[in-house]
Amino acid sequence: MKAAAPDAFQEMPLAKIIAVHSVKGGSGKTSLALNLAGVAALARQRDTLLWDLDAQGSSTFLCSDHPVVLGAKSVFERKIGPASLIAKTQWAKLDVITADLSLRQVEHVLQDIQKPKRLKKIIKQLSPSYDVVILDCPPGLSEVNDQVFEAADMLLVPVTPNPLGLRAFEQIQVYLAERGGRPLEIFPLISMADKRKLLHRSFLEAHQDWPVLPMSSRIENVAVRRAPVEAFAVRSREAEILRDIWGDITKRLAEIESRRNVDQHRGRPRIPKSSAS
Ligand SMILES: Nc1ncnc2c1ncn2[C@@H]1O[C@H](COP(=O)(O)OP(=O)(O)OP(=O)(O)O)[C@@H](O)[C@H]1O
Ligand SMILES: [Mg+2]
Repeated sequence: MKAAAPDAFQEMPLAKIIAVHSVKGGSGKTSLALNLAGVAALARQRDTLLWDLDAQGSSTFLCSDHPVVLGAKSVFERKIGPASLIAKTQWAKLDVITADLSLRQVEHVLQDIQKPKRLKKIIKQLSPSYDVVILDCPPGLSEVNDQVFEAADMLLVPVTPNPLGLRAFEQIQVYLAERGGRPLEIFPLISMADKRKLLHRSFLEAHQDWPVLPMSSRIENVAVRRAPVEAFAVRSREAEILRDIWGDITKRLAEIESRRNVDQHRGRPRIPKSSAS
């Protein structure tokens, strides 16, 4: 088996926040979020938190047996701390912040409080305990997703290889450019690619530098097994692809980190050599 791309997390002191987002529903966000959390926690032994931000609660269902408590919205209202929603999973290094139907009202809460960095601040509270926080986002361009854009270090966007998938990706690019504010690293990847289809083959041809996650019954089975691929098919081709994608992501995060360090260094007042000695 080919060795997986290395994980560059050892070079990064603070928890990294990766949002899995797409404007498009059903593009493979939740499956990807859980599978990457599986790579981080199981293959790379990183302390990993998966935060389910979608009222559907799909990630919650996939990796937690905890009874659903109606509290997810209260975290945003600061009525409860995020730690009280953290559920352990059967994997020692993977925790999940559960979602529930109260998240349906979170849009109104966020509109009322007018605190665009609320999510970012909540994550900051948690970050000393984790190496990586993966956000499983609801589809669309909602208030919650605006909070995600403030908080994340990287936006991982699964793109289905067809015109609507591409359109959804372009929408997010345009939205972020028009929105302005802090620059956000966007990492597209092709989701559910089926090389038997001419349309998919030409899409892959046109986007050769994007990582590709194939349409696969093993990945679909994540929902049946209620576990990431890394947990039940560690030697599979899909597990290998996911580890490689994780390697690419961490490499990109390390580059962002070193760029940030250089910028910070540049921003510091320079002390003349004579007075520094
Ligand atoms: N690579 C894949 N191969 C085969 N099936 C997949 C793959 N990725 C996701 N699926 C299946 O596609 C469906 C949608 O996936 P998923 O729930 O991950 O998408 P989503 O973007 O999170 O959806 P939503 O927008 O509703 O949150 C699920 O049934 C899932 O099992
Ligand atoms: Mg989902």
